[in-house]
Amino acid sequence: MAIAAEDVCLERVIPITEGFAVEEGTKAPRWLGPPPEKGVKAAGARILLFYSLRFGICSAFAFFLQFVTPGDACVSHGRAGRALLDQLLCSPEHPVPPERQPWPLDRFLPSPFAPGCETLCFFPEAVGSEGIRQNGKKLPASQHRGHDSTDKTPSRSFAFVCRQTKLKPEVTTEMVRSSSVMVSNKASILSEPKFGLRDTIVKSQLVQMEDSYTHIQSFRFFVGTYNVNGQSPRESLQPWLRCDAEPPDIYCVGFQELDLSKEAFFFNDTPKEEEWFKAVTDSLHPDAKYAKVKLVRLVGIMLLLYVRAELALNISEVEIETVGTGIMGRMGNKGGVAIRFKFHNTSVCVVNSHLAAHMEEYERRNQDFKDICSRMQFCQADPNLPPLTISKHDVILWLGDLNYRLEELDVAKVKQLVDEKAFVELCQYDQLKRQMNANAAFEGFTEGEISFQPTYKYDAGCDDWDTSEKCRVPAWCDRILWKGQNVAQLSYRSHMALKISDHKPVSSVFDIGVKVVNEELYRKAFEEIVRSLDKLENANIPSVTLSQREFHFEDVKYMQLQVEKFTICNGPVPCQFEFISKPDEETYCKEWLIANPSKGFLLPDAEITVELEVFVNKSTATHLNSGEEKLEDILVLHLNRGKDYFLSVTGNYLPSCFGSPIHTLCYMREPIQDMSAESIRKLTLMPLEMSDDDVGAEKPMDIPKELWMMVDHLYRNASQQEDLFQQPGLRSEFEQIRDCLDKGMHDTLLGSNHSVAEALLLFLESLPEPVVCYRVYSSCLESASNYPLSSQIISNLPACHKNVFEYLMAFLRELLKNSGKNHLDVNILASTFGGLLLRPPPGHPTPDIAEKRKAQQFIHQFLLREDNLR
Ligand SMILES: *[C@@H]1O[C@H](CO)[C@@H](O)[C@H](O)[C@H]1NC(C)=O
Ligand SMILES: *[C@@H]1O[C@H](CO)[C@@H](O)[C@H](O)[C@H]1NC(C)=O
Ligand SMILES: *[C@@H]1O[C@H](CO)[C@@H](O)[C@H](O)[C@H]1NC(C)=O
Ligand SMILES: *[C@@H]1O[C@H](CO)[C@@H](O)[C@H](O)[C@H]1NC(C)=O
Ligand SMILES: *[C@@H]1O[C@H](CO)[C@@H](O)[C@H](O)[C@H]1NC(C)=O
Repeated sequence: MAIAAEDVCLERVIPITEGFAVEEGTKAPRWLGPPPEKGVKAAGARILLFYSLRFGICSAFAFFLQFVTPGDACVSHGRAGRALLDQLLCSPEHPVPPERQPWPLDRFLPSPFAPGCETLCFFPEAVGSEGIRQNGKKLPASQHRGHDSTDKTPSRSFAFVCRQTKLKPEVTTEMVRSSSVMVSNKASILSEPKFGLRDTIVKSQLVQMEDSYTHIQSFRFFVGTYNVNGQSPRESLQPWLRCDAEPPDIYCVGFQELDLSKEAFFFNDTPKEEEWFKAVTDSLHPDAKYAKVKLVRLVGIMLLLYVRAELALNISEVEIETVGTGIMGRMGNKGGVAIRFKFHNTSVCVVNSHLAAHMEEYERRNQDFKDICSRMQFCQADPNLPPLTISKHDVILWLGDLNYRLEELDVAKVKQLVDEKAFVELCQYDQLKRQMNANAAFEGFTEGEISFQPTYKYDAGCDDWDTSEKCRVPAWCDRILWKGQNVAQLSYRSHMALKISDHKPVSSVFDIGVKVVNEELYRKAFEEIVRSLDKLENANIPSVTLSQREFHFEDVKYMQLQVEKFTICNGPVPCQFEFISKPDEETYCKEWLIANPSKGFLLPDAEITVELEVFVNKSTATHLNSGEEKLEDILVLHLNRGKDYFLSVTGNYLPSCFGSPIHTLCYMREPIQDMSAESIRKLTLMPLEMSDDDVGAEKPMDIPKELWMMVDHLYRNASQQEDLFQQPGLRSEFEQIRDCLDKGMHDTLLGSNHSVAEALLLFLESLPEPVVCYRVYSSCLESASNYPLSSQIISNLPACHKNVFEYLMAFLRELLKNSGKNHLDVNILASTFGGLLLRPPPGHPTPDIAEKRKAQQFIHQFLLREDNLR
């Protein structure tokens, strides 16, 4: 039986009454009294749903009602449903304490019934003999059509209050999070896969039929980007944010280099966030009221999203994410931040990124772009769905200091073309345009015609081009691009009036067509889907075919991704699939493996490509080197209500110095890949304590030869390199360096100074036992300002660890002698190396700022002292 609109009533009702209890529904619940068969209409912010189960339960409600009606013959019971019931149903003797109300049961409401709903609450006592309060007045009981309380038929009516998404979505989410009751309920509900399946299928079919119940309506978006070069907002932002007569519906405002201090860089903490947030808020268009939807920041990259207050309810599913692409692939001085949301029925993702600097680094910028695209993943409200990536959105707005430069031309020529306003000609030398033409970055994105002069680099306080010693070539660093349907750019300009930075802000105004739902048509589509699903569900159990079941990964290397793909083709029954863990195992696969997506659902005859990715990082490398762990796994692909399929994964790993212990490497005179598996195994498993007594015939080396190669190379070739240890290298060069160290191929390392420096940091990070051993971690922090004690601790380390420490300190002190050229200072080095040499032991809580500072302080002492330990 399909659900019809009459079965459910979705209307608005006023407040929740204080103090309620819920009774099990097999008896006529006392508090319900004669329930209305339908909702009662009233004005207000909440929605009340009444279900009178007497007229039958339609299957669309099945999962919903499982936890409402224990023992009811009409519904099957899930384990989770019962667990939830046990928590929810309170006897009248044990009323729910007031502070636990209301019960936010978000997610359990089949969203079709109440679009925009975020929170669902049990609605108690309100429908009792007192009736419902409407606009403060009691509704007379006579308005409640329906059953008499003396009726012998068990009446099982329940009421749910649905709160609509409020202006600030985070408030509602917060509420959900803070409710401990909720957390456990949610956990138990979600562990029952049955709950989501039907809902998921209905949703996905609704998406397919979207055109039948939506129409396109245009909204105005203002998108702005500004690299503020660490300045505070000392001038009004109105010339930038308020330059049109008509107020936009949505503001997306991005900043880069909000704060250039080391505090911000190392601890991601800055007072500038508040300053700039306020400055933007104060400069928004005066002819409309705006609500802040979200703010997201990573070090100096910040993105703000505002919406006209009256449209706030049409925004939902707001999520934020950040991705650092700075050195070692995660520091936040470069990277991107993003806010994704649904506006009516259109999904929008706004990305603000600050890509790698320097003229020649365009490949690095392309790589940053790709990294942001692949690593930016948003949680979905529906736990059955894999995380969302940027590309999965209807509309993508990408803004930021993308840092692409003008190449080939000299400064004079560029300035001349700018003076002539020959922007079209100048664009031919723009790296971003060139990279896009070559499909090397921003594929599928569009950028409007540039009709403003380059926005970089100016002398602060005026409109003069850079007069510093470096005399940078002007460039369009600051850009706005988009991807998606129904996007019309109305303007793309820079704002010369703002002068505090060496960049000028850029803005673009768009009219974006957004899918708006027609409730009537929507309900029709929904009914149709449920009806056909009912038919299908009785038809068969799901089954799929897999294009491949055996996978082999050849010559896997440290930190080198290998991917194999296969397809799952569905039969005629909609199905939900998931890789599940085998008995006694916590995860569905080994740590070096990942299936993407690892779960999902398929409509009849649909297919999906799954990628199996093998990636060995420091957590798995050591055991693979020693042979304790092998590249072998069996994956179990489980179909909900159907059978299991087994997939076998095999491969071989090429051992690497990355992930090998220091003392092991000290005993390896040959490149690791020239050694037999047996000797690698023996040396890797050798306990650290034994390393000081010469075990084999040969004496160990003082320090690992690989470490020496990298440090020596940097010392000889790169000690004057600007931004050493700050600027990331190229991944392809890291791979060359790794191979060179592992195979001993060359006398000298290939790759740029930055790539070698990054490889050194990655090497230190990959050590299974840090240079300063785990066991002395706490005592080091305690003695962080006591040099004699600190050096005492170091001199008691195992010989190879002590040697490495001293060697690195000597190298860093050498670098500091060139600080005039490389711009390094004690703080930068102490922070960078402090976190790598002194790492908290496994199980130790993640260090807070105070703890990180102590690690920095500990290293700091050694960088200042020429004299030595011993
Ligand atoms: C469209 O809106 C309806 C109702 O709000 C919702 O159920 C559906 O999932 C939405 N579709 C998309 C693609 O957002
Ligand atoms: C959009 O928000 C307005 C209230 O501001 C509301 O009346 C309308 O129903 C919402 N539309 C959708 C599709 O949620
Ligand atoms: C190593 O990789 C696995 C899987 O990709 C990931 O879960 C884990 O966090 C990584 N470990 C480190 C230390 O990066
Ligand atoms: C780096 O140093 C090595 C050893 O001193 C030298 O042979 C090599 O030519 C240098 N490479 C570069 C790029 O300067
Ligand atoms: C490495 O740094 C040195 C300065 O120490 C510089 O002269 C050299 O050009 C840099 N090498 C590369 C490949 O960038």
